[in-house]
Amino acid sequence: MAEVVIVKNEDEAGELVAQCAATLIESKPDAVLGLATGSSPLKVYRHLAGRVKANHIDVSQVSGYALDEYLELPLTHPESYHATIKRTVTDVIGLDPQKVHVPGDALNGASMNDAKAMRGAGAAYDRAIEAAGGVDMQILGIGTDGHVGFNEPGSSLASGTRIKTLARQTRVDNARFFGGNLDEVPTHCITQGIGTILKARHLVLLAFGAGKANAVAATVEGPVSASCPASALQLHPHVTVVIDEAAAGKLHNVDYYRWVTDNKPDWQDI
Ligand code: GLP
Repeated sequence: MAEVVIVKNEDEAGELVAQCAATLIESKPDAVLGLATGSSPLKVYRHLAGRVKANHIDVSQVSGYALDEYLELPLTHPESYHATIKRTVTDVIGLDPQKVHVPGDALNGASMNDAKAMRGAGAAYDRAIEAAGGVDMQILGIGTDGHVGFNEPGSSLASGTRIKTLARQTRVDNARFFGGNLDEVPTHCITQGIGTILKARHLVLLAFGAGKANAVAATVEGPVSASCPASALQLHPHVTVVIDEAAAGKLHNVDYYRWVTDNKPDWQDI
């Protein structure tokens, strides 16, 4: 399934993945990027921005589709994923804001009891991704409970974009973005499904720190199970898992992963 690349730190990971993204955009100027929020991919975006500037790469035709968004949070709230993607990706790389999409674009703080607003928002997002030709390269972080996007344990491995209830652990993890106040963290979200994510042509999962070690081990070496939604990545033909030593701490096959990296033929990309 996956190629596991163990790097020194987030910076090295950022360089590696940004190089891959830059090569993609140079060969396909209208590439479709799958964008993740969270701290894990930040260096990827910064290094990609650096390469775009240094090599004069034209990103005017590149489009982006984010994974998820909180519900009942105005799009202008600084911790909404609309605002986060704009601040950390669109503005940094210089993408055309018209071409960057986040689930629930139209929801804008709507009550989750507003059936009219909620119904169809997920399916419409999946249709938009398909109409754009599908995601070429999907960047992913991982939650400590093994979620990708906001697909919490128990999520259907065939799911499309839909409304989900956040797990308590996720809300506790993300309370730091809401002044440490759990009550301020939204309870629901709209997220690309596992089935949506698996349609992207290349998946790149980033994880750093010992806090992610259990989730990474379950994803890469555990059984494919909805108990660890990220383990569904084992079903995908092209996955690259880029992690640091600490996040690799619970893997059994580390020697083999290093051997593969050290003996990689020059012609093989990640
Ligand atoms: C949030 C996001 C995920 C992200 C995860 C990990 O819950 N919805 O997409 O992968 O956090 O975040 P971090 O990379 O900051 O550890």
